[in-house]
Amino acid sequence: MKPIRTVAPATAAVPIIWGRQAWRCTVTTDTDPEGRTGIFRTKSVEQSIRDTEEPEHGLKRSLSALDLTVFGVGVIIGTGIFVLTGAVAKETAGPATALAFVVAAIVCGLAALCYAEFASTVPVAGSAYTFAYASLGELPAWIIGWDLVLEFAVGTAVVAVGWSGYLRSLMDNVGWHLPQALSGTTPEHGFAFDLLAFLLVLLLTAILVLGMKLSARVTTAVVAIKVAVVLIVIVAGSFFIKASNYDPFIPPAVREPGESGLQQPLVQLMFGYAPTSFGVMGIFTAASIVFFAFIGFDVVATAAEETRNPQRDMPRGILGSLFICTVLYVAVSIVVTGMQHYTRLTVDAPLADAFKSIGHPWYAGVISFGAVIGLTSVCLILLLGQTRVFFAMSRDGLLPRFFSVTHPRYRTPYRATVLLGVVIAIVAGCTNIEELAALVNIGTLFAFVVVALGVIILRRTRPDLPRAFRTPFVPWLPALSVAASLWLMLNLPSETWLRFGLWMLLGVVVYWLYGRRHSRLEPGAPVPHRSH
Ligand code: ALA
Repeated sequence: MKPIRTVAPATAAVPIIWGRQAWRCTVTTDTDPEGRTGIFRTKSVEQSIRDTEEPEHGLKRSLSALDLTVFGVGVIIGTGIFVLTGAVAKETAGPATALAFVVAAIVCGLAALCYAEFASTVPVAGSAYTFAYASLGELPAWIIGWDLVLEFAVGTAVVAVGWSGYLRSLMDNVGWHLPQALSGTTPEHGFAFDLLAFLLVLLLTAILVLGMKLSARVTTAVVAIKVAVVLIVIVAGSFFIKASNYDPFIPPAVREPGESGLQQPLVQLMFGYAPTSFGVMGIFTAASIVFFAFIGFDVVATAAEETRNPQRDMPRGILGSLFICTVLYVAVSIVVTGMQHYTRLTVDAPLADAFKSIGHPWYAGVISFGAVIGLTSVCLILLLGQTRVFFAMSRDGLLPRFFSVTHPRYRTPYRATVLLGVVIAIVAGCTNIEELAALVNIGTLFAFVVVALGVIILRRTRPDLPRAFRTPFVPWLPALSVAASLWLMLNLPSETWLRFGLWMLLGVVVYWLYGRRHSRLEPGAPVPHRSH
């Protein structure tokens, strides 16, 4: 192993507690162990790990594989299954939505095996951004971080919009109706402001600024309610399945003459075939959207530092939660498309509305109530993840340090939280949920591509690092993961590519003009104090 020259390591941590998860951003500066400079300079893995072993900064290693699985299920189940299932079945895949979930799960499973190696090689608190900074270099880390801000920020907006649909469904049950103009944008009614989604994001932003904590008991209760509601849909709904609703299971492809070039999947635009919905290709288009339902398993990887035996338990936790969610998602979509013909499913609160449509408003009320509780926690976690990545980037000097100043009283990164919270609230209020979900998905899939490539690269550049969990069949499996993620990306609308391209371009410009020069790895950069 090469000796590491450590120059004035500076570590700071901001704990944010969600249940048993103490999430802390640990930032380290020291010279690149490889002696690299410029855009591929890295923080050293060993130093990052050493920092976590300092009693002052270490987190308690208390999580088991089971805890991680519960945490994973808690983070993963959300708007994807509760809301997107309806829109996707109605517009893109019909009953074959269940197959779309299987396709998305396979893509995620491959990525999970790469994430697990990445997380267990660099078992420190943080996200793919932190892992990348320690292994791939500053520019790749910046790209991942910038991409993750998009994933978490826009993901928060998607979940808030889904939450709002279920709250309106619950309000309808008791006879309160929100005016159409404040009920969010839908394909049928066109643009409308989503007041409830807007207010939810503002409320959660305030909670994060105040640093309020959810106790372990509340966390577990929320996960239990969410899973119970999903099970109610599966078990109660299975009694109302009509076989005729599955005919045809894969609806024949339909031409979409009115669809403009930018709305069709990029793969159709590239190969010049006429835009269609449904059919076998529709399953892949649907998979690229319902993929959103699996987002969150990558967040489990961030708890490596608090895991008792990360090398063994991390992959078990990630793959275990992914497996449970896949089984639940496939079952829910089979049941819901069996209860109601896919053409009649609603897009706002499809699971609850399927029960209303067969004359069971009571079940619908229970489902809406559970969805509102469950989606609130997912929204909070995504918002938290987003401020945390932004904070870490700011601490590293890649974004203005102004944003990493913590509140004197609440000790939270309030500036980044307020700025991003307000922007996300406005986005949630004004945008269509499917467009937003597509944008989150393309960003996340791109992060998967970088992580899978990172596993291959790191095996070559740092073969000396201990890896208790090793992705099998390297480089073939990561290469397959790259191909599978790219395939789903190609099935996303061309306009999503355009938006994503603009966001990443902006990111590269910000890095070039600001981050590169202000990075704490830049020779002569000021070394900040241990804490603010
Ligand atoms: N997977 C999470 C959801 O579906 C983000 O809401």
